[in-house]
Amino acid sequence: MGSVISSGRITGVAMETPELVVDSRAELGEGPVWDSMEGRLLWLDIVGGRVHSLDPLTGSDESIEAVPYVSSITPRKGGGFVLTAGHAVLAWDGESSAVLAEIEEPDGNRFNDAKCDASGRLWAGTMDMNEASPAGSLYMVSPDRSVRRMLGGLTVSNGIDWSPDGKTMYHADSPTGNVYAYDFRMEDGMIGRSRVFASIPHSQGFPDGLTVDSDGMVWIAQWGGWCVSRWSAEGRLMETVKLPVSHVSSCTFGGRKMDTLFITSARYGLSGGELRREPHAGSLFSVVPGAVGRQPHEFDG
Ligand code: BGC
Ligand code: CA
Repeated sequence: MGSVISSGRITGVAMETPELVVDSRAELGEGPVWDSMEGRLLWLDIVGGRVHSLDPLTGSDESIEAVPYVSSITPRKGGGFVLTAGHAVLAWDGESSAVLAEIEEPDGNRFNDAKCDASGRLWAGTMDMNEASPAGSLYMVSPDRSVRRMLGGLTVSNGIDWSPDGKTMYHADSPTGNVYAYDFRMEDGMIGRSRVFASIPHSQGFPDGLTVDSDGMVWIAQWGGWCVSRWSAEGRLMETVKLPVSHVSSCTFGGRKMDTLFITSARYGLSGGELRREPHAGSLFSVVPGAVGRQPHEFDG
């Protein structure tokens, strides 16, 4: 094991030191998703409008221009991917894109994090690009491409995933500092009662992307908090993986054994002085924290 960077506050489990995987220095690294068919990690630069593809075996990372403000990439049943960007949900074959659905949103809003549930519906949130007005929503895009607004009043919709039994949906509205847990009905995607699952003090950043592992533990990227934190299903902080970059944006498990946690980060919003202090801001990191993730669900439409 590498040197211990953090010990579990409750469990005492040591974590390996995160490794710098790609010194990409992306403007807004985001949206990592494991592509098990190709054995690669796909991730994005939202501001750069690029999709990256990392082969973890060789460490080679290639990127191509996709669409401006591409904010999520999800595998699609039957091949290809679904992207969210701006106000559109797009089918993408790696070269060209076609609109699957569009949402009506204020001009200053754009799509942000999105993920599919186990029934193949895409859940995609929006945000105010100034991160100030609660004008964002969370949408459910069904396989028949109908779009339904499920939550409103969000400022920066982030961090979607589900418990392994599919009965709880985790979602963050970053500026509130909270990750909320919603009762979830997988049959029809209806969301019920909500409770605050995890509350992150502003001094430790804001909850951004998150992933739930196969034991139901929730891994939360802390934007402005220099870390990813692991929480039990009961909402207890278990441990913290520290990173050499402040704007930690998202994380997901991947690798042949699904035991590697890939972590994205951003330069976006950092001053010149801050960038000098954290030169690897915007780069991709990984750690093997002793947990196993789950394969992403595909969009069924
Ligand atoms: C958004 C960024 C935002 C960050 C923190 C990310 O999901 O894409 O634009 O700055 O969350 O709220
Ligand atoms: Ca995000």
